[in-house]
Amino acid sequence: MRPVPRRWGFQEFKDGRERMKPIEVGLLGIGTVGGGVWTVLARNAGEIARRAGREIRIAAVADKDLDKARAIAGGSARVTGDAYDVVRDPGIDIVVELIGGTTVAKDLMLAAIAQGKHVVSANKALLATHGNEIFAAAQEKGVMVAFEAAVAGGIPIIKALREGLTANRIEWIAGIINGTSNFILSEMRDKGLAFETVLAEAQRLGYAEADPGFDIEGIDAAHKLTIMSAIAFGVPMQFEKAYTEGISRLAQLDIRYAEQLGYRIKLLGITRRTPEGIELRVHPTLIPARRLIANVEGVMNAVLVKGDAVGATLYYGAGAGAEPTASAVVADLVDVTRLHTADPEHRVPHLAFQPERLADTRILPMEEVVTAYYLRMRVLDRPGVLADITRVLADRSISIEAMLQKEPGEGEDQVDLIMLTHQAREKQVDGAIARIESLPVVKGRVTRIRLEPLG
Ligand code: HSE
Repeated sequence: MRPVPRRWGFQEFKDGRERMKPIEVGLLGIGTVGGGVWTVLARNAGEIARRAGREIRIAAVADKDLDKARAIAGGSARVTGDAYDVVRDPGIDIVVELIGGTTVAKDLMLAAIAQGKHVVSANKALLATHGNEIFAAAQEKGVMVAFEAAVAGGIPIIKALREGLTANRIEWIAGIINGTSNFILSEMRDKGLAFETVLAEAQRLGYAEADPGFDIEGIDAAHKLTIMSAIAFGVPMQFEKAYTEGISRLAQLDIRYAEQLGYRIKLLGITRRTPEGIELRVHPTLIPARRLIANVEGVMNAVLVKGDAVGATLYYGAGAGAEPTASAVVADLVDVTRLHTADPEHRVPHLAFQPERLADTRILPMEEVVTAYYLRMRVLDRPGVLADITRVLADRSISIEAMLQKEPGEGEDQVDLIMLTHQAREKQVDGAIARIESLPVVKGRVTRIRLEPLG
């Protein structure tokens, strides 16, 4: 009897039966997340193979720290200091890019795609800034670029937005998507610790980016928000149009006053569809303390998505750390493994919408955004001051929702005045703040923090 020709991707075993041969993975970077991927794949190998339909095997590891790479993977995988050695290895089916950054990682990713390899990446900065080019290259080559781990660590938010909510017209997304900032805000509020002390702890725990400025200035959150916005609204990645403001200038005082008014301050990424365009903004935000998302503490992330059919849905989990992020990387490996042999047109599009159907909806500049505000100012404690300030707001149709005036300290003639406004256009509020700061009864600058009821 003539032997049956072996099908593509199948291997004949000693018992004469054909099984899918393992999928071969090349791991670029075996640091915190890469180490987690190695551990999770090894620990759950059996379960993962049962789900994927074949074994997923890390065949090669590239890291500039060869000793560390050998200590983890030596004996089980080929270890090299040259990432291109892995990218060009014809035996590798999927390249996992965990190097980070937007230069070397970009070249490696494009080289892997050019070699016809699928790519899994946690690199939010790279995808938010060069994603359009990378997806176009992948489309051209008929390969997948999977990036669940790029947004909110272990929370499967990309899967939820791209597939689970596909029936919906997404209205808005609001997320706590930077664990380091959330950790800092939680510790400052709970323990009254100083900003720098908490940041150092976040770095020690491995949550912070290589450049922690990315975390505390809202850049990391804006990268993640850009990715979610593109998938939610079917628009290209437009990180350069995101409004970004971090937590580095946030005062303890405002955290306390917000608390007294029934609010928590969180670094929120918000993207919303409006008739004028798409909002894309990251900034410290007051949220009513009774909202679930206001109670997300420490390094945890949460993303609130409002769809027209489903209503509001909330996704919560660890946004950083070795194994939570590895959970998302390995999920992508399973997805890519399952779809490896599918026709490219039968796969889920990278940005959820068919690439030729992406829209060119404009991204709103911050001055056009409409939201509510917390305004804090230091004023002279004398008659008529409040009337002067409310007149400035009324002249610009800015309505006050709540107000808090603190008693003056012993022997002081100045007080803190805090106002919460109803929704107003940012440009109007900019004008009002400039005018208020010019009043002789107002001392120093006005602190402005945006407020979202998230109802
Ligand atoms: N530095 C990021 C954070 C890590 O703190 O959320 C996960 O992207």
